[in-house]
Amino acid sequence: MNNGLEDVVAAETILSDVRGAEGQLIIRGYPLVALAGRWTFEQTTHLLFTGFFDDLPDAAEFTAKLGTARVDVFEKTRGLLGPMSKLPAYDGMRAAMAMLSDGTALPDALRLLAAPAVLLPALIRLQAGDEPIEPSTSTGHAADVIRMLGRSDGAGALDTYLVTVSDHGLNASTFAARVVASTHAGLTSSVLAGLGALKGPLHGGAPGPVIDMLDAIAEEGDSAGWIERALDDGERLMGFGHRIYRTRDPRADALKAALRSFGDADARLRFAEGVEQAALEALHRRKPDRVLETNVEFYTALLLEAVGFPKHVFTGVFAMGRIAGWLAHAREQALTGRLIRPASRYVEPVTKDAA
Ligand code: ACO
Repeated sequence: MNNGLEDVVAAETILSDVRGAEGQLIIRGYPLVALAGRWTFEQTTHLLFTGFFDDLPDAAEFTAKLGTARVDVFEKTRGLLGPMSKLPAYDGMRAAMAMLSDGTALPDALRLLAAPAVLLPALIRLQAGDEPIEPSTSTGHAADVIRMLGRSDGAGALDTYLVTVSDHGLNASTFAARVVASTHAGLTSSVLAGLGALKGPLHGGAPGPVIDMLDAIAEEGDSAGWIERALDDGERLMGFGHRIYRTRDPRADALKAALRSFGDADARLRFAEGVEQAALEALHRRKPDRVLETNVEFYTALLLEAVGFPKHVFTGVFAMGRIAGWLAHAREQALTGRLIRPASRYVEPVTKDAA
């Protein structure tokens, strides 16, 4: 039995390809480096959605429609925000999203795409004792998130982040979304499955612990000593290693470039680069036969921290970007796939007599 379905091909997709040996991520024919920092999240999502929705307008109109969908979501969920803010932000966001219509048409997809961008800033503000800020139709998606957080810097960095994480092959949450879509349930049902899978620490929950590690090292003031001790204790260094990439994760470099253009992060970035060097040196020395490089989560943590998100909402911001991929995969599965129904091996040794 293949525990974890490693290397099992469970879908054919035109959406993205993770090329682990080369350290390349291809999104609908484009290498990530051609999109991150160049295309907006709206343009990238439009690319992912092409061919999967009737009446898909051009990218400019799609961007305008997403702005209208943000306002629509805010109005539809306004009355829920108070009670939902009593929950952890990720859970509150997911509960509010469950109230959206469960259709499969473009307006359903646009509302779901807009929802994390609207709900997360509103819940963060309510939890801090501030009033939510209403969405605007006159800015881009990432810039509106920054505005709704009550901040003014970081829209470009956030846009690069959302594009960078928009899709990544058949990862656990995308697979979960496709399983639900294969039953021809609606898009909300698929997205809720994706949100459930993303929440776990083995998938979307990793960047928070990167901040914990950096803070612990900063407090101690000795990167190399802290790292040696952690490895001696059998701990894993957060933000390093990957199941598929056998070289550097291309998303780490895309995010590092975005951070460089973001002035406020400079001192923290220099400190983190020192930690990264010390970590890579220790990992290469201790595991010369295993390729252990920096993964996406290391620079995700730094970028989201610099943009101003508290670390407990990092997974929700991941969902804000990955929802583009979930929606496109759900449509692809429903349109081109079959019901996903694998087999299990029964291991109970004795058959009992009911009488
Ligand atoms: N720190 C220290 N040692 C490590 C690390 C690490 N970050 N990653 C792997 N190793 C070691 C393991 O201890 C193991 O050593 P052993 O053979 O002596 O037991 C060896 O390298 C291979 O480890 P595997 O678990 O087989 O590696 P795999 O490729 O399956 O795991 C994973 C990938 C889970 C990401 C792992 O590298 C890890 O735990 N990293 C830290 C957590 C992290 O950054 N997660 C985010 C990943 S990115 C993403 O999923 C979006």
